[in-house]
Amino acid sequence: MKKGFTLWFTGMSGAGKSTLAEAVEKELLERGVGTEILDGDVIRTNLSKGLGFSKEDRDINIRRVGFVCRLLSRHGACAIAACISPYAAVRDEVRESIDNFVEVFCEAPVEKLIERDVKGLYKKALAGEIKGFTGIDDPYEAPEKAEIVVKTTEETVEESVGKILRTLELMGLIPATDGGTDYSEEEEEEIKKRLSDLGYI
Ligand code: ADX
Repeated sequence: MKKGFTLWFTGMSGAGKSTLAEAVEKELLERGVGTEILDGDVIRTNLSKGLGFSKEDRDINIRRVGFVCRLLSRHGACAIAACISPYAAVRDEVRESIDNFVEVFCEAPVEKLIERDVKGLYKKALAGEIKGFTGIDDPYEAPEKAEIVVKTTEETVEESVGKILRTLELMGLIPATDGGTDYSEEEEEEIKKRLSDLGYI
């Protein structure tokens, strides 16, 4: 059976989690890897309907998403989670419960996210119309040992997707293609160093 895995995107609102999740899914489907995206905004309209944004509710949300990822990935699929998941402890709890958990930190300075403000939510948060907004008046605990770090305000979507796919290849979770993805030697070194520091290769 194929090795299933969970690709867990974490990062603040507007940092590119959903965009990257969709772009990676497209590539994975082309390589014959069955995927399912669990996107925060979507999950909160069904599986987590009724939950708010207190620490308790966010933790419940993340545990639920983690539970579904575990079910999917243990049956050989690639589960892709795209939730802010601001708290390190519950992210690590989910990590422990899943074989082949790959964390992708979408790193973006909050100033840039405020500038971009795709959904107009930062403006509302800064005006005090939304309380407890991640990065404004609610915490975001950046991961310290994410398998992959993408700097979404500096890299193109293609570059970030390339890094993610190459990492999955090196971890033996997806088959390598010959020259399918584009990355510089420098990037390749950076990916290998990170995986080696984490003890994967
Ligand atoms: S999480 O913290 O529980 O992981 P999740 O990813 O499901 O969050 O949902 C985040 C989305 O909810 C944001 O992209 C945004 O559209 C919306 N949202 C509404 N209120 C908040 C808030 N207080 N903090 C962050 N996101 C919020």
